[in-house]
Amino acid sequence: MNILIIGGGGREHTIAWKLAQSKQCKQLFVAPGNAGTHEIATNLSIGVTDFKAIKEAVLANSISMVIVGPEDPLVKGIHDFFLGDEQLQGITVVGPQQAAATLEGSKEFAKEFMKAHNIPTARYDSFTKETVEEGCRFLETMKAPYVLKADGLAGGKGVLIMESLADAQNELREMLVGQKFGHASKKVVIEEFLNGIELSCFVLTDGKNYLTLPMAKDYKRIGEGDRGLNTGGMGAISPVPFASPEFIKKIEDRIIKPTMDGFQKSNLPFQGFVFIGLIKVGEDPFVIEYNVRMGDPETEVVFPRIHNDWVELFKAVGAQTLDQHQLQIDPRTATTIMAVSGGYPEAYEKGKKITGISEVKTSTVFHAGTQIENGTVITSGGRVLAVTSFGEDHNEALKQSYEALAKIDFQGMYYRKDLGFDL
Ligand code: AMP
Ligand code: GLY
Repeated sequence: MNILIIGGGGREHTIAWKLAQSKQCKQLFVAPGNAGTHEIATNLSIGVTDFKAIKEAVLANSISMVIVGPEDPLVKGIHDFFLGDEQLQGITVVGPQQAAATLEGSKEFAKEFMKAHNIPTARYDSFTKETVEEGCRFLETMKAPYVLKADGLAGGKGVLIMESLADAQNELREMLVGQKFGHASKKVVIEEFLNGIELSCFVLTDGKNYLTLPMAKDYKRIGEGDRGLNTGGMGAISPVPFASPEFIKKIEDRIIKPTMDGFQKSNLPFQGFVFIGLIKVGEDPFVIEYNVRMGDPETEVVFPRIHNDWVELFKAVGAQTLDQHQLQIDPRTATTIMAVSGGYPEAYEKGKKITGISEVKTSTVFHAGTQIENGTVITSGGRVLAVTSFGEDHNEALKQSYEALAKIDFQGMYYRKDLGFDL
């Protein structure tokens, strides 16, 4: 079958790399892709929310399965667009319909969903411009630090954690009245701060059945010791050493099962990946957020550990037969380290020539912000490459990734050298 992956980061390269290994994958397309996907698939120069151009490409290339990588097209309703189009109706789309994608598109919606289905999460309330003074008074009833979240998608920047009440109240006004995050902060969720260690849980569901994927931990901050600005993710480790079988059972019973039941009860059609951002407080899991897609760079450690034929799994998502499948999970630890452009996550330069990738033999280099120019691989984004390795534990795997990174170079290249420091 011919398959299209939408997106162009490390996540999409990893998914493409797995699909390309399946005998059932005839032609593979990635829109827009990167220099890594260019080697194993056909890149289509189409934006991820250009539904009209995506339709044309699907029809022109006899594509019968579409895997949606990022949240943007899902929140904008790409799955609904396919269902509502006579020529596209029969095509398998991996990624939820808009109603369910709102779990990522609106923090308030996600919190209401959790409340309705008794899923453990931080205590909260939400406010608008009209209720900004009530919001300030609500903050007075909370303890520091104060957590403010823009309701809508804000490119990963919409969460503020403030130490002082006065700062929190000022920021709340900035967000609601000053439109600090534009439309995304028309509503703000204020919630209780949870103190613990974070991990990510991934579930693949066909809308009736589900499979729980391996857990992963990502490192979001730019600086060592988890300091500095938030990024899309600087690296990841799977499995998570502190997620014991007992703790995973709590996640399954208190969070995954009620979430899946909640989709049915709240009538949210979901065929795709649920990414549950969790925090371990004492011995108990709480939900920080839902995403409606795989994580990046978590995909770069979770997918390599799953040995199933991914075309089979995705077909089962479309046919609602995931109950007939079991995951074959590699017991070893996978780690990935992101090499980023100097300056990221703030301003950075692009177009730097990348050398040394072909010298890496015992790790896998997944491309993120790269492109090909006159046969040369150059940087084209903030997060450039993710270097994934296996080991008996995370220290051994990380050592491999660091050895591989020592062979790679581009001007301004930066990566964190302390992953796993907290484990
Ligand atoms: P989110 O976009 O909701 O995942 O939030 C971004 C980051 O803010 C999370 O990864 C956490 O590190 C932090 N965070 C969000 N909500 C809370 C909370 N209630 N308590 C503590 N930290 C939080
Ligand atoms: N690595 C976090 C994310 O994909 O949102």
